[in-house]
Amino acid sequence: MPDISRRNALILGGVGVASVTVGGTGFFINQRLPTSSSSGTISGNAFTEPVELRSSDGVLTVDLESSPQRVSIAGRDVNALSYNGGLPGPTLRVRAGDTLNVKLNNGLADPSNLHVHGLHVSPNDNSDNMFVTVAAGESFDYQYTVPADHPPGVYWYHPHLHGFVAEQVFGGLYGAIIVEDAEEIPADRERLLVISDITITSGGNIPSASPMDEMSGREGDLVLVNGQLTPHLTAQPGERERWRIVNASVSRYLRLRLDGQQMTLLGIDSGRFEAPQEVDEILLAPGNRADLLVTGSAGTATLRTLPYDRGSAGGMMMGGDTSRSIEEIELATFTVVGENVDAQPTIPRQPAQRDLRTETVNARRELVFAMGMGGGMGAGMMTPTINDRPFDASRIDTTVQFDSVEEWLLTNTSTLDHPLHLHVWPMQIIEQDGQPVDTLLWQDVVNIPARSTTRVRIAFEDFSGKTVYHCHILDHEDNGMMGIISAN
Ligand code: C2O
Ligand code: CU
Ligand code: CU
Repeated sequence: MPDISRRNALILGGVGVASVTVGGTGFFINQRLPTSSSSGTISGNAFTEPVELRSSDGVLTVDLESSPQRVSIAGRDVNALSYNGGLPGPTLRVRAGDTLNVKLNNGLADPSNLHVHGLHVSPNDNSDNMFVTVAAGESFDYQYTVPADHPPGVYWYHPHLHGFVAEQVFGGLYGAIIVEDAEEIPADRERLLVISDITITSGGNIPSASPMDEMSGREGDLVLVNGQLTPHLTAQPGERERWRIVNASVSRYLRLRLDGQQMTLLGIDSGRFEAPQEVDEILLAPGNRADLLVTGSAGTATLRTLPYDRGSAGGMMMGGDTSRSIEEIELATFTVVGENVDAQPTIPRQPAQRDLRTETVNARRELVFAMGMGGGMGAGMMTPTINDRPFDASRIDTTVQFDSVEEWLLTNTSTLDHPLHLHVWPMQIIEQDGQPVDTLLWQDVVNIPARSTTRVRIAFEDFSGKTVYHCHILDHEDNGMMGIISAN
């Protein structure tokens, strides 16, 4: 097993440098992803992508039906959940300034709703409203007005009804949203990679999580790319590909490498670096996205996710923890072969990003992420809380002044990482574990490593209203690690 200390991980996107080591190996053997040799027929499929729906004349109107479906995954028939019959659901491609209309038809046996993760849109009415419930069998018309100056990039949609989120996302309910660039980035090809994990029982079902899985955050046995196991991609030497990667896993961190190929990162989430960055490794917490260029050099490379230690809730429990991202997993193969292709023109410089470090802070507050004893999860279990309180739909936890900048100190007192996600307004990471960040780093999911702090600044602008922030380990969110914020 390779070195699993976090020290080797590229420090990117709010991921700290603490070098906690993983205990309890051997506990995870039955969770191992079958390798291509042991799984025989199930790997090496040609790479496929979800159906893409594009706006025209400034409008995209979509019917999205969530329902239980029998889908084929890794050569097996699986009873999963799906949007419009696929896994992932259709890709929604829009431009800044467009209107996106989505009729959600809930064909599930449970209530649900829809969230457009990362989009800077109104949280009110029938826009990205987290307080809408769409009962089983009912439908709801969402309408999102994408601002004319909306940042380009890759976003995603998923259900967000408190108590059902982890199960519905784990079951297969997710899809990508792409906001196109104002000025095109020259590339030979564009690819979308929605990465998710899933567990399939011998009967072809997706099991529900044990209380211990919920405490640590469930991780699936199989890690899929667009619903496929280790698909195969090909390109020619010199070709530049645009890869948009979504981590749609409930709890799994992805530490991605593509050794032997050149990876150039344009940004994480909606944040865009002014100049693209050459990287060896990309760390994506659940909910994060990467916008990436890959330039092909002859040879075969493997897209892998490396072990990442996100800590554990163990020690308190018999059996220890269930946090797993400790295996190296092959996600896809990338073969570059054939004639050399002329290089693409240089990448246009991106507009300078705003820097809140030079702006006036109106208020400072601290959010403490903890795993408290007792509470709702049963004897011996720990309850995830923010500022000592589990989520309460009838309570506003944080009231901020609209049109002001705030600084938040995010303190994680627990032995597990928590990736904080704030809806509507992106966060600028200014300090990690006491160290100032000297680059411009904007994200909408910010990891707070175990027993450390992260400091962010947020501009509460453009939209007033009520929404949520939460841990994007969706089992933690469902179990209470969420708060309501009102900007007015
Ligand atoms: Cu990706 Cu509040 O969610
Ligand atoms: Cu979100
Ligand atoms: Cu968490």
